[in-house]
Amino acid sequence: MSQNEAKRLAGEKAIEYVEDGMIVGVGTGSTVAYFIDALAGVKDRIKGAVSSSEQSTARLRAHGIEVMELNHTGKLALYVDGADECDGYKRLIKGGGAALTREKIIAEASETFVCIIDPAKQVPVLGKFPLPVEVIPMARSLVAREILAMTGGQPVWRDGVVTDNGNWILDIHGLSIVDPVGMERDINQIPGVVSVGLFARRPADVVIVGGQPPRVL
Ligand code: 5RP
Repeated sequence: MSQNEAKRLAGEKAIEYVEDGMIVGVGTGSTVAYFIDALAGVKDRIKGAVSSSEQSTARLRAHGIEVMELNHTGKLALYVDGADECDGYKRLIKGGGAALTREKIIAEASETFVCIIDPAKQVPVLGKFPLPVEVIPMARSLVAREILAMTGGQPVWRDGVVTDNGNWILDIHGLSIVDPVGMERDINQIPGVVSVGLFARRPADVVIVGGQPPRVL
């Protein structure tokens, strides 16, 4: 089965978690795009969605799904999003699509975080995928130096990418993250860091691995 087919099956399976009257938190990426397309099929049953990116907002609106402000909705019952890596404790690396900060906000605001992935995203230890960190532009070099000293990982500026929040991304290469909660906390402390793409303090609650049939962890 192709990776895209696995993503589609994971995205469609997540529809089972959507209940009548819900406002659904929606992540970003190619797996989530399949979820949004499937959500369009039940759009009359939901109140609307809170989106984690301009990209997802455009796709939701194209399907006629109302996009609401998190400040107006309060806590959400459900958040569905993809990931770049997922370990055995449902801890994640996210941010390959540069939407990590809004994704983290919505994950925190949600009761249930359903993560939809293809099998290639499953890893024993996080860190092979370069860890994205969103930074305030003027702090790019400072944050890079501090992360190098702190972790030994090699920060690489994702040149040319500006996040939906007007910030920049550093990708940290060469990590083997044995303490994801500690690394998330420590990187978050560096002035100039907006957020780090480790979702360990608030991991996923449910992971759906696309396949025939999809596996629910
Ligand atoms: C975006 C993300 C995505 O969830 C992650 O990059 C996975 O993307 P895809 O579903 O395209 O493989 O974190 O910031």
